[in-house]
Amino acid sequence: MSKVFEMNHPLIQHKLSLIRDKNTGSKEFRELVKEISMLMAFEVTRDLPLQEVEIETPICNMVTKMLSGRKVGIIPILRAGLGMVDGFLNLLPAAKVGHIGLYRDPETLEPVEYYCKLPTDVNERDLIVVDPMLATGGSANAAIQFIKNKGAASIKLVCLIGCPEGIAAVQKTHPDVDIYIAAIDEKLNDHAYIVPGLGDAGDRLFGTK
Ligand code: PRP
Ligand code: URA
Repeated sequence: MSKVFEMNHPLIQHKLSLIRDKNTGSKEFRELVKEISMLMAFEVTRDLPLQEVEIETPICNMVTKMLSGRKVGIIPILRAGLGMVDGFLNLLPAAKVGHIGLYRDPETLEPVEYYCKLPTDVNERDLIVVDPMLATGGSANAAIQFIKNKGAASIKLVCLIGCPEGIAAVQKTHPDVDIYIAAIDEKLNDHAYIVPGLGDAGDRLFGTK
């Protein structure tokens, strides 16, 4: 069974309250999603492997630690996942970014794929799938399956807001994928929106309706 890391750092919780507020406009929403993502990235990368390297300080030689050669990939689920990419790239500037285009069919609520472009070496990378919302889990499950089909073996899922239904769905389908989440809300409503949630993350990020 995968692990679920709920990130309740005060800065994250404060910024999350701001993006939940319906009076927060797109510009501020985008900035806050980026900031929250960067704060989450700090924790998500806690187990990145280090290697010892020898360097020369102005005083003497020393053996110190730097990130080892293992490479990272950030995989946003379009559209709303795009809002989280820059926060991650701020901390991981050398990461490659792969895109998976999925939307939830409003009738069936099933994810529909419309785009997929990944780094060629996904099998050699630690992949971080990002999407602000984990509702039914259908989109996250489909995205994770796509990248597994391309050979990916090391995958984490990072979402801002989820609910018990979505977490259970991902844990059942992908027990090897740990989930990092800033808040676990109460439930889904009849339209599979998270309650209390923040509404439609893509629309709020990009000002569409
Ligand atoms: C939202 C969100 C997730 C998905 C979550 O995307 O960004 O991808 O819904 O719902 P699920 O867990 O039930 O699959 P949406 O389909 O609204 O597309 P968008 O990002 O293009 O707005
Ligand atoms: N997608 C969203 O953007 N918000 C929800 O609450 C559920 C799915």
